[in-house]
Amino acid sequence: MLMNAIEAKEISHSYEYEGSKNLSLKGVSLTVELGEFIAILGHNGCGKSTLAKHLNALIPLQQGDLTVAGLDAKGKANIRRIRRACGMVFQNPDNQFVSSIIKEDIAFGLENYGTPEDQIPEITASVLEAVGMGGYENKSPHMLSGGQKQRIAIAGVLAVAPDILIFDEATAMLDPEGRQEVLYTMKSLRDENHKTIIMISHYVEEAVSADRVYLIHDGEIIAGGTPREILTNPELLMRAGLLPPFAVRVYYDLKLAGVRLEKCPLTNEELAEEICRLK
Ligand SMILES: Nc1ncnc2c1ncn2[C@@H]1O[C@H](COP(=O)(O)OP(=O)(O)O)[C@@H](O)[C@H]1O
Ligand SMILES: [Mg+2]
Repeated sequence: MLMNAIEAKEISHSYEYEGSKNLSLKGVSLTVELGEFIAILGHNGCGKSTLAKHLNALIPLQQGDLTVAGLDAKGKANIRRIRRACGMVFQNPDNQFVSSIIKEDIAFGLENYGTPEDQIPEITASVLEAVGMGGYENKSPHMLSGGQKQRIAIAGVLAVAPDILIFDEATAMLDPEGRQEVLYTMKSLRDENHKTIIMISHYVEEAVSADRVYLIHDGEIIAGGTPREILTNPELLMRAGLLPPFAVRVYYDLKLAGVRLEKCPLTNEELAEEICRLK
């Protein structure tokens, strides 16, 4: 059976419903296939978190249609199933733990979903392994680096076996090393565990290796396409209030100065290759 992970049609939302014209989402439509790695980029306040909270039923649907992992988000019937099918990792790693011992924290989520107690240690070991934190069961999250904390938070979400994981600016509070760890974990969850990944960010560089990128601005999706289509288009990114990736900015700066690279690079590695090709 072919089923999309997310199908959103014309979702509109206002925080003060009933007559409020201040829309935080304006007719948002998007489709995410199972197993895709999608980046949603936009500047602060454009509606990213509001959209994310729709996708895991933290905000009830006011207008439009939404299906998550084949479950209709209209009404209340599927709320619990949607939350389980679509897990969310948030920005602040320190706000995501209920226990000071990692295995207890992961067990808490599992018990909430009625997982038999004798299965919990095995599930805990396997999700810690999946995020590269195998053997950390008895440690405290508070002793870990930011990147490690986020990976433990991801393990907690993974434990209830969601099909989809949403990362709402999950790297924003991390140092460069932690950011790399979490990005790598997202990719490995897609590649090794067949999860659908939705990564919300305002760091354009993080979207470079996504399968597809959506740009959101002022509650609207203003563009969708491959990273190359979207991220090498400075005008489009400027409209969303974002700067292109470093390599793209250098390409256009060089062009202005009369130096033409053969193709517009997306990453610093590609930029170096293009520069080496000059002469
Ligand atoms: N709980 C809330 N009550 C009222 N307005 C809100 C609330 N949360 C967000 N907003 C507003 O909705 C808009 C979108 O916010 P949000 O989805 O958090 O954007 P982003 O995640 O892209 O920064 C912003 O104008 C914000 O001020
Ligand atoms: Mg947000």
